[in-house]
Amino acid sequence: MQESLKIHNAFNNFTEASRSLETCYARLCEQVTFLTEELENKNVQLRELRQHHKRNLRLIAMGEMAATIVHEIRSPLCSIELYSNMLMDDLKDTDHSEMAGGISTGIRSLNNILTNMLLFAKPRNLSFSDLQIRTVIADALKIIEPLIEIREVTVSHTLTDHAVSGDRELLKQVFMNILLNAVQSMPEGGNLTIEMEGGGEYLKIIVVDEGVGIDPENIENIFDPFFSTKEQGTGLGLAIAHKIVQSHEGFIKASRNGDRGSTFSLYFPYKNSTAALNHINDGKEMNT
Ligand SMILES: Nc1ncnc2c1ncn2[C@@H]1O[C@H](COP(=O)(O)OP(=O)(O)O)[C@@H](O)[C@H]1O
Ligand SMILES: [Mg+2]
Repeated sequence: MQESLKIHNAFNNFTEASRSLETCYARLCEQVTFLTEELENKNVQLRELRQHHKRNLRLIAMGEMAATIVHEIRSPLCSIELYSNMLMDDLKDTDHSEMAGGISTGIRSLNNILTNMLLFAKPRNLSFSDLQIRTVIADALKIIEPLIEIREVTVSHTLTDHAVSGDRELLKQVFMNILLNAVQSMPEGGNLTIEMEGGGEYLKIIVVDEGVGIDPENIENIFDPFFSTKEQGTGLGLAIAHKIVQSHEGFIKASRNGDRGSTFSLYFPYKNSTAALNHINDGKEMNT
């Protein structure tokens, strides 16, 4: 009897142990399934990251290649520009002067596209100095002067002395891109106005055109790289301008004018310029 009780108890213990083992086994199975799923997810993520990395490497290589090509095209283009300017001088006051002017305008436009591409493919380090922003705007206007004449655009501006700290070449590119868009938006001609407002925390430069205006549904996208509504546009002008102004701790606002045309307002902080710092130090009035 004693023996059979022992066997019975042992059997019970065995059944209990086997049940608890079964529960453990089921739990382990659940965990294995969960971990397997997790591993699969991680593997998918890893594959995506690898692809992303590969794509980034390809983009970097393409950027490098684009930069090299732009450099290669640029050198002969500079020579062509030089010769076309000489030709323009030679043909001044002759029947062919307009043709020579057309060549120069085409070259300048090509040069501008190349600069935007280069800046997009390979942003360069900024070289800051104190500069009078009106001289930068005047330089940019000078470069697009032939196009302004061809389009019969009238430029009026009130450019006063305002010093900000910035990279002259990059800021010239900003104004060229903004002014070029303004001129291109007026195929039938019109008025292009540039005004400056200083005094506050920011220097504000306002560019107003009387062109086709920006469609309300596009206003969110115009600063995106490669967004263009022009048949031959690269969509890089505003993206580059935005990036450069941002690197000067400023910003750009675009709006559609009530009746016709657009307004682009560029804001640059005064705080970075030595003039502004001197102003803070000695309490003198600045930007007068
Ligand atoms: N002054 C403007 N008037 C009307 N539309 C403009 C003006 N400036 C920019 N845009 C719009 O923003 C788009 C992007 O401009 P941008 O980046 O300079 O590229 P792109 O000039 O090559 O088209 C233009 O295609 C145009 O639709
Ligand atoms: Mg443009």
